[in-house]
Amino acid sequence: MRFFSLYKFEEIKKALNLNGSEVIVDMGGGTGELGEYLMDSCSLIYILDESDKMLSKVKVNEKIIPVQGEALSTGFESKSIDVVILSDVFHHISNQGKLLEEIERILKRDGKLLIMDFEKKHFRTKLLILFEYLLFGKLYFKTKDEIIDILTESFKIDKIIDKGYYFIIVGLNRC
Ligand SMILES: C[S@@+](CC[C@H](N)C(=O)[O-])C[C@H]1O[C@@H](n2cnc3c(N)ncnc32)[C@H](O)[C@@H]1O
Repeated sequence: MRFFSLYKFEEIKKALNLNGSEVIVDMGGGTGELGEYLMDSCSLIYILDESDKMLSKVKVNEKIIPVQGEALSTGFESKSIDVVILSDVFHHISNQGKLLEEIERILKRDGKLLIMDFEKKHFRTKLLILFEYLLFGKLYFKTKDEIIDILTESFKIDKIIDKGYYFIIVGLNRC
């Protein structure tokens, strides 16, 4: 499992093409492992999560800041963030429209939103859905194309990386 996660970390980092100056919010960032992986490639990374339990495992340092909060109403200043990451998170949020509005609000113009999620039609995802349903309850999976459709209202699609059972989409904030 860890091996597969690290593999996606590499792909996420490559897709973000960071220049080292970015302020990042890893929304639903959990225990902060992706943050640790990215910290040498950015200036600051906030690990925002609703779960204190997950955040208690974050290895805090001068570049990694845990924030207990709600993705739909983060409290970050408008137009203050360069990159938002939703890794394995989009399908956990019921009000996905409000989530994208909040991301659009905090991201600078041309700021990047990266979504890594799982293709709901793929058989491997069906196993994941069962596993996550037992852990988290109701889930709100969308296909890659459905997410692209929603995103294009406010984001310019920059990259689509399709790996079959999972995908990475990078959008640039138009506002
Ligand atoms: C499956 S975990 C993914 C963790 C991490 N992003 C990763 O890739 O390993 C989903 C995370 O999203 C968080 N989460 C779910 N809904 C949230 C919300 N509305 N606001 C903030 N965090 C949320 C959960 O607490 C959990 O840590």
